Amino acid sequence: MTIATETVQAGRGLCSTPPPIPLIDLKAQYAGLCDDISEALREVADSSTYVLGPQVKEFENAFAAHVGARHCVGVNSGTSALHLALIAAGVGPGDEVITVPMTFIATTWAVNYVGATPVMVDVDPVSYTMDVDQVEAKITSRTRAILPVHLYGQPAALEPLLEIGRRYGIPIIEDAAQAHAARYRGRGAGTLGQSGCFSFYPGKNLGAYGEAGAIVTDDDRIAARLRSLRDHAQSQRYHHDEIGFNYRMDAFQGAILGIKLRYLEGWTEARRRLAATYLERLADLPIQLPTEAPELRHVWHLFVVLHPERDRLRDQLEARGIGAGLHYPVPVHLQKAFAHLGYREGDFPVTERIARECLTLPLFPEMTASQQERVVDALRDVLREDHA
Ligand SMILES: Cc1ncc(COP(=O)(O)O)c(C=O)c1O
Repeated sequence: MTIATETVQAGRGLCSTPPPIPLIDLKAQYAGLCDDISEALREVADSSTYVLGPQVKEFENAFAAHVGARHCVGVNSGTSALHLALIAAGVGPGDEVITVPMTFIATTWAVNYVGATPVMVDVDPVSYTMDVDQVEAKITSRTRAILPVHLYGQPAALEPLLEIGRRYGIPIIEDAAQAHAARYRGRGAGTLGQSGCFSFYPGKNLGAYGEAGAIVTDDDRIAARLRSLRDHAQSQRYHHDEIGFNYRMDAFQGAILGIKLRYLEGWTEARRRLAATYLERLADLPIQLPTEAPELRHVWHLFVVLHPERDRLRDQLEARGIGAGLHYPVPVHLQKAFAHLGYREGDFPVTERIARECLTLPLFPEMTASQQERVVDALRDVLREDHA
């Protein structure tokens, strides 16, 4: 009897359960692009130029024009982009770089790679980006760069940071890994500082089909140095002027990114519409919603809400087939890898609260209205149960 009931229920479940909603859906995006992509990949294979080459050059030019920078230098990851941007800014052993603990760890890796010390300041409780008011107190004679992160797709408060940078003669390097097509007072994220670093990791708003990244800059000399550094610092073949790196972008990624860049504006508008719907439909719930400052164009790489019982919420959403994420549950200053910096729990209360309470809801350009409605309904359900 019991077995029979279970079988019937399982059978009914199989027929009626709608498919799960992932955090992002790269397959849905590929479905609309596969013919163009296949042709571009065949062209690269036919050309037998697999590293750098015309496809990478074309993409660099198109991306520079898109963000509004003089130069774009394609590399093999966002982490490499940050590494080279710091070297080109003259940051080296013994120097300090002011940055934030609420980010993906790669921001801080890059500071470490050049032998400098990351000096953390907390993030703002509303924007979740670098708290400008805390920066000046951390400047010392060894500070060589300020490295804000445009977290979740929202540019940091760049003008006040640039003003501090000008006053102390310290360059701003933008971690724009999550902020393709974002804008600060009409200007492209990544183009206001000395250089801006992008990641094209597959899940990013502009994603490759593998690893890739880029640095944008208006400075001719920095661009030339970056081009050299990414390619073993060769001034001519087998002549190396300084310690270089193999950080070149491969041609398949350049070709794919060139095609996908044509869609970026449309995808960004879709993200913004979805975010607006979430903000409207979730406004009355007991969660902290993200915000967009009026002078910014937020590109909603991630839609992150805060709730004190985040883990339970996540499990309950998961049980309803909703893939929610955590960005990021352990802040950089509390990572074992950075224990030597000597930070303690309690040092950055805003960051620590975000880490404890953050929950990323599914948002991707191909998301349908009914998928989004299911996420909203599920969250409403879960929070109603909370108060029942
Ligand atoms: C804020 C931030 N910085 C840096 C990176 C590093 O980029 P990549 O994964 O391409 O090395 C990422 C992405 O992963 C990121 O989100």
